[in-house]
Amino acid sequence: MSPPGILALIIVSFCAASLCATAAQVTYDNRAIIIDGKHRVLVSGSIHYPRSTTQMWPDLMKKSREGGLDAIETYVFWNAHEPARRQYDFSGNLDLVRFLKTIQEEGLYAVLRIGPYVCAEWNYGGFPVWLHNMPGIQMRTDNDVFKNEMQNFTTLIVDMVKKEKLFASQGGPVILAQIENEYGNVMSSYGDEGKAYMNWCANMAQSLDIGVPWIMCQQNDAPEPIISTCNGWYCDQYQPPRSNIPKMWTENWTGWYKNWGGKDPHRTAEDLAFAVARFYQLGGTFQNYYMYHGGTNFGRSAGGPYITTSYDYDAPLDEYGNLNQPKWGHLKQLHDLLHSMEDILTTGNVSYVDLGDSAFGTIYSKEGGSSCFLANVDSGNDKTINFQGMNYTVPAWSVSILPDCQNVAYNTAKVSTQTSVMVKKANVAEEEPNSLKWSWRPEMNEKTILLGKGDVTTDQILDQKEAANDLSDYLFYMTSLDLKKDDPVWTHNMTLRVKSSGQILHAFVNGELIGSQWAKNGGERFVFEQNVKLNHKKNTISLLSATVGFTNYGAFFDTAPSGITGPVELIGYRGDDETIVKDLSSQKWSYKTGLEGLNQKLYSSPSLKWQQDSFPVNRTLTWYKSSFKAPLGTDPVVVDLLGMGKGLAWVNGNSIGRYWPSFIAEGDCKLEPCDYRGSYDSNKCLSNCGRPSQRW
Ligand code: GAL
Repeated sequence: MSPPGILALIIVSFCAASLCATAAQVTYDNRAIIIDGKHRVLVSGSIHYPRSTTQMWPDLMKKSREGGLDAIETYVFWNAHEPARRQYDFSGNLDLVRFLKTIQEEGLYAVLRIGPYVCAEWNYGGFPVWLHNMPGIQMRTDNDVFKNEMQNFTTLIVDMVKKEKLFASQGGPVILAQIENEYGNVMSSYGDEGKAYMNWCANMAQSLDIGVPWIMCQQNDAPEPIISTCNGWYCDQYQPPRSNIPKMWTENWTGWYKNWGGKDPHRTAEDLAFAVARFYQLGGTFQNYYMYHGGTNFGRSAGGPYITTSYDYDAPLDEYGNLNQPKWGHLKQLHDLLHSMEDILTTGNVSYVDLGDSAFGTIYSKEGGSSCFLANVDSGNDKTINFQGMNYTVPAWSVSILPDCQNVAYNTAKVSTQTSVMVKKANVAEEEPNSLKWSWRPEMNEKTILLGKGDVTTDQILDQKEAANDLSDYLFYMTSLDLKKDDPVWTHNMTLRVKSSGQILHAFVNGELIGSQWAKNGGERFVFEQNVKLNHKKNTISLLSATVGFTNYGAFFDTAPSGITGPVELIGYRGDDETIVKDLSSQKWSYKTGLEGLNQKLYSSPSLKWQQDSFPVNRTLTWYKSSFKAPLGTDPVVVDLLGMGKGLAWVNGNSIGRYWPSFIAEGDCKLEPCDYRGSYDSNKCLSNCGRPSQRW
């Protein structure tokens, strides 16, 4: 019934075309992924939602589509979503559903790599550290405790995506999903249990009934109907392990990641295009750039140890979302061309010709038409190749594509896109001064350090993961010591020796800092040894250990030690040849997680008192604060942290990650000239020697 005077209301249901897409059928055969009956050439790119901000997503998607991508691939980050057991977070840049919808709005497909082990240079490979602390758990193997948690999280993600109708089978963008990650690389270390676990993963995934195919990367024995895929800088020589699956490449590494102390990686546009063209020349059908946009390891998400906050990766879209030219443009041309040849590449007859002298031709033909690829894989010499009665000059380490088998439309080594040079400009918003005005506060741990009393006490040295449960980088290990006059270790020359598995140690004795040390060379183990002055009353030893990302890769990576692993020893030297060692490892140890300022959220409570005068430099454990007006315009904004030591930074209460600009990239870059020719690896074409690994 309508109230008097109001006509019946007609409700019209409508939605944007891209959001109302009808269900699509995704299948495959030995040639390609087939969407609604059509064999597809699919070009995809990895973008990880937590490594960018929600505001950036629409623009990243737009630039991806314009760059000729069909799909966006992302991992799902378990430890970010389930920071404490059964407590979930999908807010802000963890809003996976919103990310997938943004992909769909741009008319792109999505590839959902649930893992939930992901590696990804992400803290602990994406595993929540509470998992490590569950009794009886063994990860990534046939262990019920682990499998139960993995299944719980995987199901949660699948249900969430289903509920929002985001699988292609429901009209959504997700055309493929991945379970586990590169398990085949480590499976043999887990013996029979490893194989059983892999089969369990496959069955568990299949039982979730998502209506699109599942993939497993680097898993040649992935059981039917799961598709095994390849990862690497090159996958042209890769042969799918079963004759009924297409040749797919889930990670084409567009560059490489960076460590603290490491140089800037660079993979040339020519070599990347070469790898892609060779892949499609040799029957490839789906290829994904890892990364297409690498982004930023905000907060404490960087893995490790020692992965930098920047995850730029030298990807086609740079850390801030700008086009990384000529890479982006050179690849776009290639994608457009491959797409124009989609039908013949995925359904035509193929013949391969060895033209001798490192030259190879491929002819795809169908109903009178044909398309060709001509490769010169010699890493030093350009060649004139006679192919089907014509001469072609093909530069070294390159592929020419001839859509009509006569005219070269593209050569991977001939770059016509202009190189972009990004400049960083100082903030000129409303006459902001060039250098910021800073205030400071001491960290307020004096009491903890002096009294040596924390929240938990044990009579052994705990691994940092166990004691701090990944709630902070920082953990105090504290013990007290009553040294009697007749203790054998008591000499005039005593040192404190601490074995640490990384990455940073500040040692305090009776409230005084006696020394600091950090792990060089990738952040592994180190031994700290420093002279100590003790007294005959009670002495307090407070060791502040800070980690810089937990290990994320390798068989049993989850059991890699972290923090102070011991022993902690007092050493008395008497004369030249007598050394007395007192092991303190099984004393009573007291633990405190985090710093006082962190626990009190100093970074978001401006009301506390900060000092302006006697500005300290080279002072351990200090908070610094400044304010600035946002720069005008819409360009990305970066913070220059040159001059800082090591720490964590926040802007408006958001943690933008760790900084360590005092960590210099060592070595001589000139010894490593950059030639696009020949196989790329992460030691090639490095730059930024002698400068901070990451300044911005
Ligand atoms: C792969 C792994 C990715 C990433 C990559 C290196 O082995 O699957 O997650 O870690 O290496 O960037």
